Amino acid sequence: MKSDLQLPAAHVDALLTAAIAAPSMHNTQPWRFEVNGHVIDLFLDGSRTLPAEDPTGRAMRISAGAAIFNLRCAAASLGYGTWYGFAPYPDEPNLLARIVLEPTSTPDETLGNLATQIPHRHTDRRPSDTTPVSERMRVALMQAAYAEGAELTWLGEPEVDTVLGLVLDTDLREIGDWQRRTERAHWVGGERRTEGIPSSALGPRSTTYPAAVRDMATRPADHLREQTTFETHPDLTVLSTGYDKPADQAAAGAALERVLLTATREGLSASFLNQLLEFDDLRRTVQDLTLRPGHAHMIIRFGHHRPGTTTTPRRPIADFLPTEEQS
Ligand SMILES: Cc1cc2nc3c(=O)[nH]c(=O)nc-3n(C[C@H](O)[C@H](O)[C@H](O)COP(=O)(O)O)c2cc1C
Repeated sequence: MKSDLQLPAAHVDALLTAAIAAPSMHNTQPWRFEVNGHVIDLFLDGSRTLPAEDPTGRAMRISAGAAIFNLRCAAASLGYGTWYGFAPYPDEPNLLARIVLEPTSTPDETLGNLATQIPHRHTDRRPSDTTPVSERMRVALMQAAYAEGAELTWLGEPEVDTVLGLVLDTDLREIGDWQRRTERAHWVGGERRTEGIPSSALGPRSTTYPAAVRDMATRPADHLREQTTFETHPDLTVLSTGYDKPADQAAAGAALERVLLTATREGLSASFLNQLLEFDDLRRTVQDLTLRPGHAHMIIRFGHHRPGTTTTPRRPIADFLPTEEQS
């Protein structure tokens, strides 16, 4: 799409820096951008799929939705209003989002404030203390999900026990599944400079099983890393949407990032137990635990933030834009 209005290069840089800081499954960063005037298109990057663990591309679309939410926040902080559509053209499935930016004297203040949290949000796989998340914060996070058209359900103790039981179920299914294990080994562990999850971000192993945190380790050295005790009754939530089309999955990603940035602002950390949702039957079971109709997209564990979270790297911005020959 061509437009006569041009975004200043410094703004494009700030917008894309914010977008690519979004969470993505295994830190695959599965997106590409095209900037035309005041219009930014996000395309899914077909070279960064996870055919064994994400065969339908659901996680890819959730990740891309999160990147678009960051972009909207950065746009608001730079004085732009944004209009966007997810999966705008069904016959162009890789064009996941089109976002139009216009200078405005009334940018969205909430989004602009959340932009300040983007550099501080990281997945934190360490144990949390035993203080439950306060009622006020729970409501704030539910409202954040709702603002993006999703639902965040806090699980009670019996439901948390069911989820932890299902972790055992998924681990049993993975035994002998070399495709899933090989794929994860490609993305997780070791030192990472631009993509994937470095060993340093795996967090400690849990002394008990099943654990409140997903052990992503695939390498022998990572299986032998430090062990510690995790909370036995973690604060777990399920993020769901009413429908499950590509646009709904992208909206779930936007809701995820709005929830995570709000949590960061409130001094909370988050990690995920999404291995359950990689199996369709378990995904339905997890949604049933919320006692609502809909489709579960993320299982998020919240805790109180402690200093010292490790970070994951990102590729340089130029990697996500067309080369001169392509443009
Ligand atoms: C759709 C999706 C699924 C994810 N699943 C898990 C998971 O099951 N366990 C986990 O520890 N992290 C999970 N993550 C977190 C990613 O590993 C993390 O976002 C990525 O490594 C980048 O790190 P960062 O969040 O610290 O920026 C998931 C993220 C997304 C977007």
